[in-house]
Amino acid sequence: MSNHVIVAIDGYSSCGKSTLAKALAKKLHFIYVDSGAMYRAVALYFLRKKIDLHNHEQIAEALKNIHLNFHSRDYETHITLNDEEVSDEIRQMPVSETVSSVSAIREVRKEMVKQQQRMGRTKSIVMDGRDIGTAVFPDAPVKIFMTADPLVRAERRFKELKHKHPEITLEEVFENLAHRDYQDTTRTESPLVRAKDAIVLDNTNLTPDQQLEFALKKVEPFV
Ligand code: DC
Repeated sequence: MSNHVIVAIDGYSSCGKSTLAKALAKKLHFIYVDSGAMYRAVALYFLRKKIDLHNHEQIAEALKNIHLNFHSRDYETHITLNDEEVSDEIRQMPVSETVSSVSAIREVRKEMVKQQQRMGRTKSIVMDGRDIGTAVFPDAPVKIFMTADPLVRAERRFKELKHKHPEITLEEVFENLAHRDYQDTTRTESPLVRAKDAIVLDNTNLTPDQQLEFALKKVEPFV
C-alpha cells in the first residue's frame, strides 16, 4: 500500500460535497482540493477574455495562459488565477451560469485532470468534484458519491446566496441546479456518474457531523 491516501468525493451540485470534504481533510490532516473551483476559475478567465467556447484554437491558447494555484492556509478554498485571488468571484452567478459549458470542453478537462493528478502524486488528499473517482483517481481507495433531494439542495444553496443576492428566488436557484445536473450528467466528456466502487451517501436527512462520522469510518482502514 502506498503511504498516501486519496479520498474521492463526487456528486451533484450543492450536495454538501465541499462541507464534508473540508471537514474530513481537517480531521485527517489531509490536503483539501476543490476541483470545481478550478473549472470555475477557467470559466471566469474565459468570460473575461470573451473566449468563444466553440473555437478550439482560442481555447488551447487561453489554457496556456491560465495559471491556477491553491493556497490552503485553512481548510477553505483559496484559489488564484494568474496570481489574482478569485475565490469570491468564481461563486457569483455569471460564472455559475457558464461553468457547466466550460467544464464540458475536452481540452479544459484534459488540462485540469493532469493538474489534479499531479496534486495527488505524493500527498494525502481529499478531492471533491464530478469525475474524481472515475477519471482523476480511478484507483482511490475511498470513493464517496453524494446525493440529496433536489429541493433540499436548492433550499440550502438559496440560503447561502440570498445574503449577497436578495433579489434571487428559490425557483431560479432550483432551475440553475437542475440545468447543471442535466449538463453534468449528459455531457460527452467524463459525465457525472457513480464509480462502480463508490459508496453512496444520501445526505437529505443527515447533519454534517453524521456525514463526517460516516466518511471517517470508510477512511479509517487506510490511515
Ligand atoms: O462543484 P462546483 O459546483 O463548484 O463545480 C462547478 C462546475 O464544474 C460544475 O458545473 C461541474 C464542473 N466540475 C466538473 O465537471 N468536474 C469536476 N471534477 C468538478 C466540477
